[in-house]
Amino acid sequence: MNILILGAGGREHALGWKLKESSQSDKIYFAPGNAGTTAVGENVNVDPNDFEAVKNAVLEKEVKMVIVGPEEPLVRGITDFFNQNNELSGITIIGPSKEGAKLEGSKDFAKQFMKRHNIPTAGYLTVTAQNKDKGKEYLKALKAPYVLKADGLAGGKGVLIIDDYNEACHELDNILDGKFGEAGTKVVIEEFLDGIELSVFVLTNGEEYFILPEAKDYKRIGEKNSGLNTGGMGAVSPVPFADKAFMSKIEEKIIKPTVKGIDKEKISYKGFIFFGLIKVDGDPYVIEYNVRMGDPETEVVLPRMDEDLVELLTATDKGGLSKIAQKQKTETAVTVVLVSGGYPGSYEKGKRVDGLERLSTNGLLFHAGTKRSDNSSVVTNGGRVFAVTSYGSSIEEARDNSLKVAETIKFEGKYYRKDIGFDLI
Ligand code: AMP
Ligand code: GLY
Repeated sequence: MNILILGAGGREHALGWKLKESSQSDKIYFAPGNAGTTAVGENVNVDPNDFEAVKNAVLEKEVKMVIVGPEEPLVRGITDFFNQNNELSGITIIGPSKEGAKLEGSKDFAKQFMKRHNIPTAGYLTVTAQNKDKGKEYLKALKAPYVLKADGLAGGKGVLIIDDYNEACHELDNILDGKFGEAGTKVVIEEFLDGIELSVFVLTNGEEYFILPEAKDYKRIGEKNSGLNTGGMGAVSPVPFADKAFMSKIEEKIIKPTVKGIDKEKISYKGFIFFGLIKVDGDPYVIEYNVRMGDPETEVVLPRMDEDLVELLTATDKGGLSKIAQKQKTETAVTVVLVSGGYPGSYEKGKRVDGLERLSTNGLLFHAGTKRSDNSSVVTNGGRVFAVTSYGSSIEEARDNSLKVAETIKFEGKYYRKDIGFDLI
């Protein structure tokens, strides 16, 4: 079957690479894709948020399966658009309905959902401009540091962790005054959880679920997790502290009640759930839900899967997910993200990339922010430019393999962390 992947990052390149392996995939299309995705399939110049344009591409290219990479089209209702459109009936779309996407699109909705279904998460209070004094009282009763979250999508910037009470009150005012625009009309104030984080992924159709390999991502720009938050500077899978006993706690306390809750509330959900978790005193808590795969986690999760991804996605849509056996590679995968100088602040685009032809063949190179220039050479086109994934028998070995490849890729301003996985070794 022909498959269309919406999005333009390393996650989408990795999805395409994995789908291409399946004997059930024919042509793979990316909308809009990047300079690397053309090695897997064909790019179509369509904005994933322009649903009519996506529909036209699907019909024209005879696509039978659509995978939504980023959250925004889901939160805007692309799945409902597909399901309500007669011309698109019978086409599998992987990603939840608008209602299901609220698990990511509204932090208040997600917290209420977790409360209703007894899913362990930090204590919280949601406030608006009308009752912000209540918020300040709640903050006073908490211990530092203070966690403030804009309710809506804020491009990964909507979470503030603040040490000082007065500053937390001041930032609460700022968010409610529009610091993050509409996303901050409501603010979720949370208890701070002190522990170690990991990400767990499932495919679900609201009845069955299938657990993918877990991962840990590294969000800060600097080594030893210092400096500003980014979209993700690297990731590791498997996560050594996520042993059998801990994974089974996650399944019982978090995955099962979440899937049951989706079913009970009659939320239409066929897609990925990304559980952002934290381990505190041996127990897992949910920090956040995402309704899509993570980036760069996908670049280590998919390389560790020996299952047929087309088969898994078809079973997500049509049923049978619980009958598919898990087949994970035992090797460790580490991805190292190469970014543009200045990121996550301002940075320049259009830098020429050299060294791609000299790459060793045992690493996987996923393009993120790249495009072809007019003379067809690869140039940088975003903050995160490449994700270099390698395997190894340990985190150190896999990381060293990725670092060797990272060194051979050249572009002006290139920066990457050399310590991905440091806290797991
Ligand atoms: P999010 O954008 O929801 O992923 O949050 C960004 C980061 O903030 C998370 O990855 C955590 O490191 C941190 N965080 C969010 N909520 C909490 C919390 N309740 N306790 C401790 N850390 C948190
Ligand atoms: N790496 C975190 C995310 O995809 O949201």
